[in-house]
Formats: sequence, C-alpha cells, structure tokens
Amino acid sequence: MAELMERMQHRRSVRAYTEDAIPEEQLRQILQAGLLAPSGRGRRPWTFIVVRDRETLRKMSQCREGAAGMLAGAAAAIAVLGDTTKTDTYVEDCSIALTQMHLMASSLGLGSCWIQVRMRKAPDGGTAEAYLRDVLGFPEHLCLEAILSLGVPAKQPEPHALPDLAAENVRWEKY
Ligand SMILES: Cc1cc2nc3c(=O)[nH]c(=O)nc-3n(C[C@H](O)[C@H](O)[C@H](O)COP(=O)(O)O)c2cc1C
Repeated sequence: MAELMERMQHRRSVRAYTEDAIPEEQLRQILQAGLLAPSGRGRRPWTFIVVRDRETLRKMSQCREGAAGMLAGAAAAIAVLGDTTKTDTYVEDCSIALTQMHLMASSLGLGSCWIQVRMRKAPDGGTAEAYLRDVLGFPEHLCLEAILSLGVPAKQPEPHALPDLAAENVRWEKY
C-alpha cells in the first residue's frame, strides 16, 4: 500500500529525455499496464499505436502548437485510440489505460507525458486528430484521445509531497 502511494507521488510529467532507447521488454510492460485497465462493460475499446521511428515522432510533435514538442526528442510514443462503435465510454476507458501506462513508465524509471489530442487544434487550423490520422493512417471510426511520450528522463522532477495535496477539493458526506 505504502509502496503504491510512493509510486504515485513519484509519477511526474517528464518532457525532456536523453538519446537512449527504451528496452523492448520495458515497452511491453508499459503496454501490458494499458491492456490491464478496466473499461466500461469490459469492452476494451482501445488500440495503441507504438511509434519508435524518429522521423514519425518528429512529425507527430507538430500536431499541436508547443504542447507536443517533446515528441521530437522522445524515444517512443504510444498513441491511444478509442473505438467509437464499441462503447460510449471510450474516452474514460482510454484515459484510464493511458494513466496506467504513464504510472508504469514512471515505476520503470522512465519519463513520460500525456499529450492531449482530442478537441485540440493543429497549427494548420485543422484538428490535431486529423493531422495525426494522416501521419499514422488510422481509420475514421477510431478517435485519437491522447499520446503518451516516452524516454529516459534527462532530469528527474521532484516527487509530489502528500502535505501539499489540495485538501479543499475533498468534501465529506455532503458538498
Ligand atoms: C488530460 C491531460 C492532458 C494533458 N495535456 C498535456 C499536453 O498536451 N502537453 C503537456 O505537455 N502536458 C499535458 N498534460 C500533463 C499536465 O500538464 C501535468 O499532468 C500537470 O501539469 C501536473 O504535473 P505532473 O503530471 O508532473 O504531476 C496533460 C495531463 C492530462 C491529465
């Protein structure tokens, strides 16, 4: 229990990476963490596209103004797509899967960051999703929710401290 809390405290968004590659076994463990996620009615509406090609990562980094820049220096990325035909909870399901992969990456000593794609614009005026559909070639019935960038951290951020948590966001019994 204490170990899980510590893991969650150490989970931070990491946007700067070294040039090192991520061992295949670690990538597999991260993907397993995503595939283990709960989903509404157990539909598992997700598809994960794993990208390691540097040129594709560079193209992906341009899907948004600024917010996805770290992809250009990432060792890998996992794009999380939801199948709109399988369930109406695909946004929640994909978010949980991505969160589990983000936490697993952290527990393996890797750096990662959530990059929002759903409802975001691309610099060309279209949607970030349409830009990425072109780069990654996924079909219309799949929505790209978000991307997890991955790499060996150039610097490890400080863990979150429990006393700093926003206690005012919790109400007991009634609002
Ligand atoms: C739904 C969601 C969308 C996010 N989108 C982005 C993003 O597009 N680019 C980015 O650099 N960070 C993004 N983040 C990371 C947040 O900025 C980060 O989690 C927050 O600042 C708290 O920092 P921490 O993760 O280190 O605790 C996103 C996080 C979430 C949960």
